[in-house]
Amino acid sequence: MAPPPSNPHRHTQQLCFVLPILLLSSVAAESTPSFSSHCPSPAPSPDLHTDANDTNALLEHFHFSPGFFSGSGASNLFMPGISGYFSFLPHAVSRTADPAVIHLSSATLTLFGKRAEEHNGTLGFGSYERIYDVAVSFRLDGYYSTTTFELCMVGTGTDTDGPVKRYADLALRLRVPSKPSLVDPFVAGHLEGGVDFETVYLVTYADGDVYKYSEGRATCPAEAATTSARGGFSCAALRSRLLSEYRLRHAQSNSSSLPRLHEPAMIVNQVHCAANGAVRLYAVFSNDVMPWARTNRFAVENQAVVAEGFWDAETRRLCLRACRVELAVSYWSSAAEKLEVRECGIGMSFWFPAVWTVRDRSATAAMLWNGSQAASGDAGVTSDPITASAFQYIIRTTTTTTNLSDVKYSYTQTFLDTATRHYLNANKKTKASFPGAYNFSSYRDFEFRFFADNDEMVRERGQAYPVSIGSAMVDGDELAAEYAFSRHAAAEMKQSRLVNISYGILFQFTAFDRPDCSEIKAEGVYDTETGFLSMLGCRELNVSTDCKVLITVQLTSLEESQPSGHGKGRISSLRDKTDVLYFESRNITLYGMYSEQVSESIWRMDLERIITLASSTLSCAFIVLQILHIKRNRDAALATSITMLAVLALGCAIPLALDLHTLLANRDKQFVELSGSAGLLDLQELVQRAPALIAFVLQLRLLQLAWAGRLSSSHHHRSLGSERRVLQVCLPLYLIGAAVTGVIHDGNSRSARKDPLFGEDPGTLWGALASYAGLATDGFLLPQVVLNAISSESSSARALSPWFYVGGTVIRVTPHVYDVFRARRYVQSARPSYVYANPRDGLFGSAAWDVVVTCGATALAFLLFWQQRPGGDVRRTKTGGY
Ligand SMILES: *[C@@H]1O[C@H](CO)[C@@H](O)[C@H](O)[C@H]1NC(C)=O
Ligand SMILES: *[C@@H]1O[C@H](CO)[C@@H](O)[C@H](O)[C@H]1NC(C)=O
Ligand SMILES: *[C@@H]1O[C@H](CO)[C@@H](O)[C@H](O)[C@H]1NC(C)=O
Ligand SMILES: *[C@@H]1O[C@H](CO)[C@@H](O)[C@H](O)[C@H]1NC(C)=O
Ligand SMILES: *[C@@H]1O[C@H](CO)[C@@H](O)[C@H](O)[C@H]1NC(C)=O
Ligand SMILES: *[C@@H]1O[C@H](CO)[C@@H](O)[C@H](O)[C@H]1NC(C)=O
Ligand SMILES: *[C@@H]1O[C@H](CO)[C@@H](O)[C@H](O)[C@H]1NC(C)=O
Ligand SMILES: *[C@@H]1O[C@H](CO)[C@@H](O)[C@H](O)[C@H]1NC(C)=O
Repeated sequence: MAPPPSNPHRHTQQLCFVLPILLLSSVAAESTPSFSSHCPSPAPSPDLHTDANDTNALLEHFHFSPGFFSGSGASNLFMPGISGYFSFLPHAVSRTADPAVIHLSSATLTLFGKRAEEHNGTLGFGSYERIYDVAVSFRLDGYYSTTTFELCMVGTGTDTDGPVKRYADLALRLRVPSKPSLVDPFVAGHLEGGVDFETVYLVTYADGDVYKYSEGRATCPAEAATTSARGGFSCAALRSRLLSEYRLRHAQSNSSSLPRLHEPAMIVNQVHCAANGAVRLYAVFSNDVMPWARTNRFAVENQAVVAEGFWDAETRRLCLRACRVELAVSYWSSAAEKLEVRECGIGMSFWFPAVWTVRDRSATAAMLWNGSQAASGDAGVTSDPITASAFQYIIRTTTTTTNLSDVKYSYTQTFLDTATRHYLNANKKTKASFPGAYNFSSYRDFEFRFFADNDEMVRERGQAYPVSIGSAMVDGDELAAEYAFSRHAAAEMKQSRLVNISYGILFQFTAFDRPDCSEIKAEGVYDTETGFLSMLGCRELNVSTDCKVLITVQLTSLEESQPSGHGKGRISSLRDKTDVLYFESRNITLYGMYSEQVSESIWRMDLERIITLASSTLSCAFIVLQILHIKRNRDAALATSITMLAVLALGCAIPLALDLHTLLANRDKQFVELSGSAGLLDLQELVQRAPALIAFVLQLRLLQLAWAGRLSSSHHHRSLGSERRVLQVCLPLYLIGAAVTGVIHDGNSRSARKDPLFGEDPGTLWGALASYAGLATDGFLLPQVVLNAISSESSSARALSPWFYVGGTVIRVTPHVYDVFRARRYVQSARPSYVYANPRDGLFGSAAWDVVVTCGATALAFLLFWQQRPGGDVRRTKTGGY
């Protein structure tokens, strides 16, 4: 790159010219490396005044899409093997005395990548690798030649991950076509890292409006596809519909017209368009049928195409002419800049089908053909084009944003007939309210997830979503779907018992030949009165399509509260057992909640949060009243059972410790996923637990008061003696309680392990401890009752304030009463989220147990009331059974 030393005279001339600039720039930034050593060309030249319009136009020229970087320098800076991306942002630009040279006096290049960090888990349990995002930015200054298209910049970099690290003496060399075009659409180059890292190669698609479309319009095949009737040309709408993954269908025969583009998937990665309807794009071809998530970053694959063309408003199609782009060297090796535009003359068109059927449901469809094979002159397509259809994400994220409201679904009569026949043969439930039949239903009530009951170790899972219900299209944009559902489907379901319905079902058939996930496109009938769904579907195999898959589902009604989800069904093959496409039928279990249940459950959780706060606040108040009671009556301290207070304090402490444990365990997990917001979550949880923490502290104070009262009393020996006798009575009871808890908990956790999806968390020691603490605290009055019974203290010492024991009993009993009510009222979800009255604190989780505990606790309170009643003689109660 160094200039030839052949003409020393010119060289010195240049130097004289350069020197003042070098001095100036070195004043501005002391450590800027010299242009002469890194960027001998284009030769620096003094700045000229540049007006605002011109500056904007020039800045626009240096605006690129987020690009791809690679090379050994990338592995020096970031974790190898995970690709990152770069962005380039020009800040200041001006023309120079040399009309062919532009001074880009300030720009930022940022490389985004990932680094890994070893972490030890909380409390020393487990360790994991935290992978986090890092950005390294470079401040650059340099010159661009409009004749050689070369941009050469020098500068420094900063790495703010950990102690700030500076990279000095860097040079960026980029080739930026001054007017990008179909055959010259890329910006490529490299960053030389000086001593700190090796070369980083950069490549991206030229952005901005300077693109030069070629003369003459691209042609589309004459035959018209039915395309959806949408309004005028909108660049944003077109972009959002084009940027997608496409599954390609190649000609069955050997005679593909595009033998080099044989990959099964295409991803449209970059789309730019102009207001006049001109469109250009970049698409890569992937071997992976389950491609990576869509991003706006430039992607590099072995095969790609660049295309340009126009939106044909008449036929409502996009007609493009395309060129094949080949990666000269594998991009993980050094020379990633070698993206070569090779064969042009490929025809490409995109359109939006207006009608969906069971076999063809693409929001966007495309076709590629070899234009050089077409008959001369005519816009003919060769015999074997590649057809492409956009497909859904393998596991659908919450929303797809495509507005499909102008697409019509057309049912196939033979599919409906087969489905109806199987519907008539099935034994269905009786009438109840099923999705579609009750008011305020949503199309989302028809979505469900499921798993298959098979004997294999791997659980097959799937997800089903409605595509159309009756005449309403309910796929795509949520708002449009909800509108179509409420406007058309809801009315149709009221009118007729049986409605046409179509579904998309994503299912991980482990036995099917595509190992990842296959989509079954199904349609059939749904009975709104019995919640029975019967459909015939097509599953796509790698070379063929099997359209003899029967899916029947019995949904549960809204009233049925079933912990085990929301219906049962079956996926089976209608083929002979001898057929190669036959597969074993599977029973499936649905899970999920209806929309009404979801909103109910959110409401319930909010309510429970309030009750929890109120009850711990009340319990603080009751403890304070008891503290006052003890301070007022010195005898009360003497008559209060220390055992009872200790049990209460432990009962407070164990749930707190358990929460802390869960919180810490979650924190470790969340740290990996959402390191940013974890702190906020913790704060909220801590605030919610503050009253419980205060109650615990007050409880300790009460214990300390009672203990001190004991010790200061003249007959503390006697009172300690009776406390010992209380322990003699209570300790065996507590031990029996612990043993029972252990046995039952073990049983519970064993059954939970059998059903990992719906069972409670498989029991741990913590869980058992919580149950036990709950049980002991429910009977917190027991030691006091025993003490009162055996004590020889005068009966006039009323140990407990009525507030304390009545209030405490009410607080302990309420969750059990509420649990009974809740179990009857609410449907349990797959992972129940209980804020208040967590069934984990109960033993059996059954209503009977709740009743037993409630009665026991109330009985103890009554006994205590009777013992402490004014003038009551404690001794007489000695025969009371305790
Ligand atoms: C900049 O462009 C706008 C319109 O594009 C024009 O009205 C304005 O006069 C221009 N300004 C200069 C300084 O050329
Ligand atoms: C993690 O624990 C190991 C030993 O158990 C220790 O050597 C290492 O320094 C710890 N790492 C961190 C980041 O604390
Ligand atoms: C494909 O073509 C090759 C030779 O070009 C031939 O050997 C092969 O049998 C053909 N396959 C099919 C399915 O036609
Ligand atoms: C298009 O067809 C021509 C002639 O058959 C062939 O040479 C060329 O490789 C084909 N183009 C592509 C991209 O496969
Ligand atoms: C979807 O498109 C239709 C017209 O094609 C329009 O009337 C409707 O408002 C759009 N819905 C949403 C949610 O954008
Ligand atoms: C279901 O679709 C078929 C075919 O399009 C149609 O004939 C039939 O009337 C539809 N049934 C209902 C209940 O809308
Ligand atoms: C298609 O499936 C067949 C078996 O059904 C398998 O042998 C073949 O490798 C598959 N082809 C691809 C490209 O996955
Ligand atoms: C599926 O369930 C049916 C009853 O609903 C039962 O007869 C059949 O054996 C089950 N099949 C499997 C594979 O579990």
